[in-house]
This record gives sequence, C-alpha cells and structure tokens, in this order.
Amino acid sequence: MLGLSMSITLFFPSWDFRSAESTWVGLDKSLSNGRVIGWSYEDPLVRGDGKPITVILNKDPKTGEEFDPAIRAYVYKPGTPFAAVVNHPDNLGPTVKSLSISKGKIDQAEKSAGAVFIISYADVNGEEWAYVENATATRGWTPSQVLNSTDESQHKYVGKGKTVYITEGCWWCHTLLPEHTQDWQVFGWPPYVGDMNGEMPTAFGSDRKAPDLLHVASRNSSREWMMLHFFNPRLVQPNSIMPRFDYLWGKTDANGNPIDFAKWRKEYDEYRKGLRAYPPEVPEYAPDTEIRALIDWILTSLK
Ligand code: HEC
Repeated sequence: MLGLSMSITLFFPSWDFRSAESTWVGLDKSLSNGRVIGWSYEDPLVRGDGKPITVILNKDPKTGEEFDPAIRAYVYKPGTPFAAVVNHPDNLGPTVKSLSISKGKIDQAEKSAGAVFIISYADVNGEEWAYVENATATRGWTPSQVLNSTDESQHKYVGKGKTVYITEGCWWCHTLLPEHTQDWQVFGWPPYVGDMNGEMPTAFGSDRKAPDLLHVASRNSSREWMMLHFFNPRLVQPNSIMPRFDYLWGKTDANGNPIDFAKWRKEYDEYRKGLRAYPPEVPEYAPDTEIRALIDWILTSLK
C-alpha cells in the first residue's frame, strides 16, 4: 500500500511544499515556539549557554585567605538558571536539605542577582555531611568578584562542556558509568582502547564502541593529548574510529588567526603517506570555544 507521502514523491515529485497555505494553527505554533525551540543550533540549551562556570579557587576573593587545597566555586552570573539542587531542595534528602537551608542559605539565592555556590561540610551526630552553601549570602561573594579575583585559566566551562558531549553525540560510542555498578558482569567487560579498531559503521546499542569516560582524566590528564585527539584522533591513536571534532575550534585560533582546515588536512594526508616527517601542528584553541568547554569538562569533572 502506498502511503500519502510516498504517492506524493512518486506522482508529484515537483510538488512545492510552500504552495500549501499556513493555517492559524500553523502560525500560532510557529509564533509561540519561536526559532530557538527544539534541536536547532540557536537553542541556548544546545549551545551550552546559560551554564555556570566552575572556578578553581585558591584564595578567598574577599579576605584573601588562602585555600589549600583549592576549592571549587560554582559561579552563576545574574540570570543563569540555578541547578536542580538549589531549585528543588527536597531532592537533596532531609539532612542535606536542612543543612543547605539553615547553614547554606540556598533559599536566599536570587537568579536575577546571580549567586556563587560552594560545597561545604558539617558534622551531624558525629558524621560528616556535604551540603550546598550559597556563598553570596553567607560570605558576601558576588559572581563578578569571584571571576575578577581569579585567573582565566582557573575558569572551567564544565557545564557547557557536558552539553557539547550531549549535542555532539559522544554517547553514541562512549559510556559514563560508575564502576561500582559492576555492569560489565551483565554487559560484558568494558572495552579496551584497541577493541574497536576498524569497526565501521558503528551500530548504536549493540555493544560499547569506546572506552568508558567516567574517570578518563585520572588515566590521562593531559590537555595537549586531548587537543590532538579531538582535532584528529588518528594523531595519537593511528587506527581510532573516533571522528575528528576539529570544527569545535571554530573559525579562529587563540591568536585570532583564521584556521585553515583545508591546508591542515592536506598536510596531514601528506604525513599519512610518508611525504612529511611530522604531522601539521594542531592550533591552540580560543578561550570561548566549544572545544575549550569540552576539555574543561573532561579534565575537571571526569577524574
Ligand atoms: C564512533 C565512535 C566514537 C565517537 C562518536 C566518539 N568517540 Fe571518543 N573514542 C572512540 C574510540 C574507539 C576511542 C579509543 C581509541 C582512541 O583513543 O581514539 C575513543 C577515545 C576517546 C577518549 C580517550 C579515552 C581513553 O580511555 O583514553 C576520549 C577522552 C574520548 N574518546 C572522548 C570523546 C568525546 C568527548 C566525543 C564527542 C565529542 C567522542 N569521544 C566521540 C570512539 C568514539
């Protein structure tokens, strides 16, 4: 049986979809939803906009007192939506909720003013509990004070990087599984780096395609290795099936110079054929790029 769309394709191949008039329903939906709805690149969710910045803090931005070891401050600039643990304290469980409100003052955080959160500890009946502290209320730290008192290299775009992982479909191949689930007893041993060599195409869901990434940064914390591997995985793993993600560098490098991808690939092909001794150099990425966020997330969160 031929479906309607099939018969349109077969019998009216030149039928122009735009000749159909929009109805009120169509106009209403389009105007209400706006361009950014759904999986379009302008969607702030897809771009990882509106995410907090994880700041590695080695001194108190107000008093200058040193933190050794450094602590993490989660900086929500004015307007940045708060995390679920702040918006829905019931989800924290009764003890952490009560500490986060009574000591941490998370109920005083205001989205329009922004806030800085940290994870603090309190003793409850001889047991140590972690809870969320709204340092803007308890210590007077403001988002801009924390950002301005620290070096740019201490700012980690972790939340944005996690979004890049999702939008780029890294999960097609990789897992992020805590080892203690022992899931390999059911799903088979987690793969080794070389297990997928030559597999093409990869089929989602049949088995794992790639190493589990949950603690990848404790195996490998090299930013340079990550740069090479994302620009072209074959630079460091000659038979890798992982796609290259060079486009996450954007158009210009850290010095503002345009990145000539065509030239890079031509030189790389020459290297693969043995016509050059070394591969071309991978450009240093600019600070506001998706690749920076992705690598920040991996090296900060996946330890
Ligand atoms: C087509 C499957 C595939 C996709 C998609 C993919 N990877 Fe991979 N990835 C692999 C394979 C296979 C390896 C192991 C070989 C290698 O190192 O290249 C790997 C290795 C890695 C490693 C090193 C792992 C280790 O144990 O040292 C990291 C980090 C990584 N990938 C991150 C990512 C991220 C982030 C994305 C998305 C931007 C991504 N990958 C997309 C297949 C994939």
